[in-house]
Amino acid sequence: MSDKKDRRGRQVGLRSGPRLALVLGTAATLAVGATMVFAPTASAGTTLGASAAEKGRYFGTAVAANKLSDSTYVGILNREFNSVTAENEMKWDATEPSQGNFSYANADRIVNHARSNGQQVRGHALAWHSQQPGWAQNMSGTALRNAMLNHVTQVATYYRGKIVAWDVVNEAFADGGGGNRRDSNLQRTGNDWIEAAFRAARAADPGAKLCYNDYNTDGQNAKSNAVYAMVQDFKARGVPIDCVGFQSHFNAQSPVPSDYQANLQRFANLGVDVQITELDIEGSGTTQANNFARVVQACLAITRCTGITVWGIRDTDSWRASGTPLLFDGSGNKKAAYTSTLNALNSGGNPITTPPTQPTTNPPTTPPTTTPPPTTTPPPGGAGCSATLSNNAWNGGYVTTIRVTAGSSGTNGWTIGVTLPSGSTITNAWNTNRSGNTGSVQFSNVAYNGRLTAGQVTEFGFQGTGNAPSGTPTCAAS
Ligand code: G3I
Repeated sequence: MSDKKDRRGRQVGLRSGPRLALVLGTAATLAVGATMVFAPTASAGTTLGASAAEKGRYFGTAVAANKLSDSTYVGILNREFNSVTAENEMKWDATEPSQGNFSYANADRIVNHARSNGQQVRGHALAWHSQQPGWAQNMSGTALRNAMLNHVTQVATYYRGKIVAWDVVNEAFADGGGGNRRDSNLQRTGNDWIEAAFRAARAADPGAKLCYNDYNTDGQNAKSNAVYAMVQDFKARGVPIDCVGFQSHFNAQSPVPSDYQANLQRFANLGVDVQITELDIEGSGTTQANNFARVVQACLAITRCTGITVWGIRDTDSWRASGTPLLFDGSGNKKAAYTSTLNALNSGGNPITTPPTQPTTNPPTTPPTTTPPPTTTPPPGGAGCSATLSNNAWNGGYVTTIRVTAGSSGTNGWTIGVTLPSGSTITNAWNTNRSGNTGSVQFSNVAYNGRLTAGQVTEFGFQGTGNAPSGTPTCAAS
């Protein structure tokens, strides 16, 4: 199934249905599913979203529903950003003010605005100790666990097909040196509450990426080590997790860590996407501008860093406005930090050389990317090509990602063979042409990802029901 593309460098999501702390394309697109679509544009390089899209990433902002009537705010939102996160409107207190009664009006305003402007939506946040409705704050034990799981199920189901990535669980680890879970009513329902929430979210919306999101995890420290261990454990046990969000709220007391990029990279190496989810940096002038540039450069250097979201548009929109931590001043003028961010996006490393994912139905996970050849290790696969397979599986279904690596002669095209287990059926695939959906299935390149230089890697994926395939796929190069 080959992909279609969008215009204006913005991602489209359509489918059936703290504190201190891609891309080169053509025509307009409607993706079936909460997909990401990027495209080149006449304005590429001149807005945050278009420039990020040229690097295969999104550039988003938190949005408050009550500001959608502010023309300056909306003008910047529509011009600069291709991803949107509801700042408060999808939280538990907002979406389920009384138990079992769901209220989506304000969140819908944001989602509808985004969709009508070709912007993707990140969902924030399904399960969190904070901003719980009063009725949940007063609950405990099994009743709270069930209420939380019902909340996750109801909200993720309601927005199924409209959310590219959900912050399924937010801020579940404690600050300080212990690397412990944060004490909360949710934590007291049992240590497995986080994985229970992820499993419920996957069942409700198999097409959304599922993220764990936290602050003060931006550098390597006891807290990020604890999150790392949890993600490693989830991957080992097949708990569905696709991404980790790094809030990245920075100021003088909590500056951009020196090991920021290395820390994000180690998480990416676990096989999850990483996203910068709530970026703001207190300060002004050159210092602030340089810090924003550092963050952008770090993300662009990591193939699996799929996008950046700033936590608000103008300084005056910020949850900590006095720190002037954003890219636009209170009048909506571009700050030095805006210019450095845009320049970093336009000059940053690790451009993705083929269009990212565009599942044709009910899309699942990561925008596959094509990475430049490794510089220190010889390309595997000899003169032909090689392929590896990784799975994100849940009870009754899976998403498989195939990495194709060109051998020393490079490729003009490639064909991959995968044998599915009995009873397994592929329901959709992306960034590839597919032959068959049960038993022995062949995948071949599409127009934009067949030509690989020696050692270059590209990825495609598919989603299926039943058991996931295993073993090493065959790879034939042409
Ligand atoms: O809407 C009411 C308004 O009716 C009332 O008059 C006013 C009086 O206090 O409060 C308003 O609600 C406030 C809401 O923001 C909307 O402005 C809440 O008090 C206030 O607590 C809430 O703050 C939000 C905060 O999360 C709550 O924890 C911030 O806007 C929001 O930016 C912030 O976002 C969090 C992320 O979700 C998670 N990571 C940290 C980040 C920053 O704290």
